[in-house]
Amino acid sequence: MGVINQNQQDAEKLAAAIAAVKYVKNGDIVGLGTGTTATFAIKELGRLVGEGLSIKAVASSIRTEELARSLGIEVLELGEISSVDISIDGADEFTEALDLIKGGGGALFREKIMASLSKKAIIVTDASKKVKKLGAFTLPIEVIPFAYQYVFDQISQLNGKGKKRKTNNQDYITDNGNFIIDADFGLIDDPKALSDALNRIDGLLAHGLFINLTSRVIMSDQSEIIIFE
Ligand code: 5RP
Repeated sequence: MGVINQNQQDAEKLAAAIAAVKYVKNGDIVGLGTGTTATFAIKELGRLVGEGLSIKAVASSIRTEELARSLGIEVLELGEISSVDISIDGADEFTEALDLIKGGGGALFREKIMASLSKKAIIVTDASKKVKKLGAFTLPIEVIPFAYQYVFDQISQLNGKGKKRKTNNQDYITDNGNFIIDADFGLIDDPKALSDALNRIDGLLAHGLFINLTSRVIMSDQSEIIIFE
């Protein structure tokens, strides 16, 4: 992507993030997502906390938790919270039906728990994330290491071409100490059916298909904010 396109995309991410943060109210417990778009929202929240907004947060990754704390946002333990008032997170792909692929940043498991706890789960994106059918972005799947080969083979049986995620030639390890398989299922005709089939595989901790977990997608396209709900 060229510099101009990158700047344009960042401007869109920032605009969507600022639009989403407007839904946060004093006293809310706010779920903080992971990734470049969520980071714009976290920084905006940090700015508002500096101006007196009173919120508590839960974080979907260690890096998000560190960023939030560095901005003066109080962060609670995700595992000790029964309900999140509003969460703001990014996505790798979304459809108008509000089905998502998430997990490009490897935080899908905590992001899914956070979305499940959220009364209002807001997704912020630039226009490049909107698709007719999910699946051009390979599906991230978090797998417990000792179940790796079993899960890999089960994914193959569902016609998924899996690849273990690596960084610098080393296995990518999630915040939870697990591997990620990025699986290519082609364009996905029935995301719910695939999600259900993956949920039945033992040792597969979480996959990046988010079905019925989103209240609203706020997408910025050039200078326009478009809301899907
Ligand atoms: C991390 C995620 C991110 O929300 C997703 O990858 C989008 O990231 P970005 O805003 O950087 O494009 O799911 O696990």
